[in-house]
Amino acid sequence: MAFASPRAMQTNEYILARKSQLKFYRSVELFKKVEGKGFVLYKRSGITLSDMRIDEGIHPEALYIKKADKLKGLQEAQKGFNKILQKDLRSANHTKIKETLVAVVDETFAEPRSGSLEGVSDTVDILISEYAQQSGVIRSLVDLSHTDYSTVLHSINVMAFTLGFCFYMGYSQAKTKLLGLSALLHDVGKTKIDQNILTAPRRLTNEEFEHMKSHTTIGYKILRECRFSENDIAYCALEHHEKADGSGYPNNKRNISRTAQIIGLIDCYEALTNDDRPYRMALGVFDTLREIIGRDVNAGKFDEEIYCDFVKSLGVMQVQEPSEEYAVSQAFLGENRGTSVNK
Ligand SMILES: [Fe+2]
Ligand SMILES: [Fe+2]
Repeated sequence: MAFASPRAMQTNEYILARKSQLKFYRSVELFKKVEGKGFVLYKRSGITLSDMRIDEGIHPEALYIKKADKLKGLQEAQKGFNKILQKDLRSANHTKIKETLVAVVDETFAEPRSGSLEGVSDTVDILISEYAQQSGVIRSLVDLSHTDYSTVLHSINVMAFTLGFCFYMGYSQAKTKLLGLSALLHDVGKTKIDQNILTAPRRLTNEEFEHMKSHTTIGYKILRECRFSENDIAYCALEHHEKADGSGYPNNKRNISRTAQIIGLIDCYEALTNDDRPYRMALGVFDTLREIIGRDVNAGKFDEEIYCDFVKSLGVMQVQEPSEEYAVSQAFLGENRGTSVNK
């Protein structure tokens, strides 16, 4: 049996700390690299960087953590971000709320595994409980666009629309949380898909599309290993691209869980109203609703009742000013009143 040299063992033991997480570390120790001495303790456990009195107020450019502390560090960062989110929500700073949400989901998706994904459960909890105090938050979340459309942003948008849908439907807090979490994590498998494929400024080749499809089974596998009390979250990742007529993937399943049907429809709406692919122009609300209705509801791919409820929920998710979704959904529902959308 071969043993690693002491030097190799030492370099393997420490990893560069993520700058975005540094200020949250309390129990996690930080190290700096000193010429000739190796890694030297810089911040002990029990204090944060801001507790340290240093002369110039500047910390070393590169700080390291023990590799074994990686998950603990992420958990401390998640807790820190969740506290900030709570503050942002109370101060009703909508831009800040979205920024903090992007930060916490970004950190979590960088390490998507058991022990980390459970951390966003508190994030969804905070959003739901604060929503009761300010109904405009969810609406403003989907209004604030970011320049970089990514899996993280898409996941947050899908979650925001889903929470709006749940509030409109009057679902219980437990059901709302389950759906919100399922929405936030539905594409977690994409964290393992080649970035070049995710952002390709062109249509994917058949081979690339096959690889892309595997984000469903990968997400399912990752989520099955997490300690969530409900299996729906993992099944939603697996089934959100399935269609009721059996034309979806990965298993051409017809009997799809209700959660996956709801998230699947909202996922589709969100992707069409945003520039999810650089070569594709985002559609307006009306075109998107028409596109979904024409192509998918009429073809029996999406459930008509879920679709109609979602359209109505878009109308309710307005703040002070009537939104485009509100006007369109009213016009749309007026047009279809008394008729089946399948006609
Ligand atoms: Fe997906
Ligand atoms: Fe998605």
